[in-house]
Amino acid sequence: MDKSNIFVTSHPRIGPVLASEMSALGYKVEKIENMGVYATGSFTDAIRMNLYLRSANRVLFRLIQFNADNPEDLYKNSKNFEWENVLSPQGYFSVQSSVRNTTIKDNRFANLRLKDAIVDRMKEKTGARPNSGPLYDASVIFLYWHDDDVIIYYDTSGETISRRGYRKNPFKAPMNESLAAAILIRTGWDGTEPFVNPMCGSGTAAIEAAMISMNKPPGLQRENFSFMHHRQFNSRIYRMLRNQAIVNTYSKPKAKIIASDINPLAIKAAKENAKAAGVARHITFKVCDFSRTEIPGHKGVVFLNPEYGKRLGEEENLKIIYAAIGDFFKKSCSGYKGYVFSGNPDLAKSIGLKTSRRTEFYNGKIDCRLLEFDLYKGSLREA
Ligand SMILES: C[S@@+](CC[C@H](N)C(=O)[O-])C[C@H]1O[C@@H](n2cnc3c(N)ncnc32)[C@H](O)[C@@H]1O
Repeated sequence: MDKSNIFVTSHPRIGPVLASEMSALGYKVEKIENMGVYATGSFTDAIRMNLYLRSANRVLFRLIQFNADNPEDLYKNSKNFEWENVLSPQGYFSVQSSVRNTTIKDNRFANLRLKDAIVDRMKEKTGARPNSGPLYDASVIFLYWHDDDVIIYYDTSGETISRRGYRKNPFKAPMNESLAAAILIRTGWDGTEPFVNPMCGSGTAAIEAAMISMNKPPGLQRENFSFMHHRQFNSRIYRMLRNQAIVNTYSKPKAKIIASDINPLAIKAAKENAKAAGVARHITFKVCDFSRTEIPGHKGVVFLNPEYGKRLGEEENLKIIYAAIGDFFKKSCSGYKGYVFSGNPDLAKSIGLKTSRRTEFYNGKIDCRLLEFDLYKGSLREA
């Protein structure tokens, strides 16, 4: 298959982190947006991105591009495309979209016109038609239609890349896997120094850290991607890419990874998830108050994602916890880089230490900050 435009989507604010990942994988990033990056590549490149990218959501491979003023234009132009080379008549597909066109009041109508064009073309050329519906587990076609610009992509991921397949027990409010990976990449942690994750909850950050430190691609664990349902999918090439990734994965992390939580049920969940990710024996788990978590050596990253306090009355208690995080950083984490991920700026002030950097993220719809603290001795004395 020829090279085409590839749009890799992400959560808002993750575009720059994703761009750094794409460059490290050897792809030239042509444009960075808040919610993704553009590049050029082959279908095999798109498969590789699905296997390797940690902070992405979906990899969209461009099929066709044209101008359409109204739904009839959309139908006609889409029907001219050779869908019989993309979809199997016995297969299944769904249509997703982002539409901003004055003739369309409801995206579902645009999706339906595109679906009709695909089905009519398939019937004419093959005498049969694939089934269609809302599921993401087979072929997914993505329609971008803003003003009169139409781009139709094959969504090679289907389910978002953040669904690595290891989350067996979500415990409470787990962090999205791609967000956790983006945070880790943003810290600049190189995977060789210790990574300590008190308040680990279901273990997302520690699991992502273990995979980074082992050079283990996050997509290795997953059994189904939308690219597998493309008519031109070559399973031999996919097996080759997977084998290459397996060969390049270290048998254990290069760094010590520690995860702790005060709640035994959180540690139980974290262990189950780590086991499903194939990294359980590479993480040291402990049930304890965050302040009693082991901090090995004199250099590394310590990362906490405390609760933000949404209900009335919770905030006062949490202020005490945030202040204690500041004390923990001062007393026990000298030489480390400390990070707190929080959606509550007032609480973050209670930490009482000067931040060396703040990065904006969203956790779902919550405006969040990743606060960085340089915990070397001199800076702590000043604070
Ligand atoms: C927002 S959750 C972390 C979610 C986690 N990032 C994930 O992906 O699942 C906060 C965690 O802090 C833990 N926690 C609260 N107070 C604690 C304390 N004093 N010491 C250790 N852990 C604590 C809770 O049990 C909870 O699991």
